Amino acid sequence: MKVLIVHESLFGNTRQVAETIAEGLRQGLAPELGEVALVDVDQAPTSIGDDVGLLLVGGPTHAFSMTRPQTRQEAAAKGAASSRQGLREWIWAVTPRESLPVVTFDTRVHVRMLPGSAAAAAAKALRHRGFDRAERGETFWVRDTAGPVVEGELERALRWGAELATRVAHGVS
Ligand SMILES: Cc1cc2nc3c(=O)[nH]c(=O)nc-3n(C[C@H](O)[C@H](O)[C@H](O)COP(=O)(O)O)c2cc1C
Repeated sequence: MKVLIVHESLFGNTRQVAETIAEGLRQGLAPELGEVALVDVDQAPTSIGDDVGLLLVGGPTHAFSMTRPQTRQEAAAKGAASSRQGLREWIWAVTPRESLPVVTFDTRVHVRMLPGSAAAAAAKALRHRGFDRAERGETFWVRDTAGPVVEGELERALRWGAELATRVAHGVS
């Protein structure tokens, strides 16, 4: 069984978190239980393979939600990489699998306690799309718009990955 991690990252922080979650999963997963694949949302498949038993979906919080073309342009104007699509567009393009366990995560700035989370918005959009088992996972904090990831958050991402591996080992319920 495979764990697929679809992630979006404009400044690289969510990618760093996603890579660390993947590392935690790999550390926690017995080799016979499967592999972990990371894919940028720009290259993410619109059809999830039957070998995928757990899907993780993560991205940055923009304007209290998932990114939009306008907010991605704003990020690019601040020096971020530009991307063809974000999680929002991918979720609308992907073919739903209603029984597939899906867990979302996001990054947000820690300085201001702003409401809104891309992880919450993505879980809701995924359920609306037909991924009935999509649930909101963790938020990881970044210091400012361009980062870096707040101290201790990558360690938390590693632990969370290992916890998810335990879920996989127990057949994901
Ligand atoms: C246009 C724009 C809007 C943002 N809006 C929010 C917001 O509403 N709440 C928040 O916590 N962070 C907000 N941020 C900060 C992002 O969450 C932060 O840039 C992101 O977590 C960094 O992840 P990345 O390096 O993967 O792009 C915003 C950033 C940009 C560029």
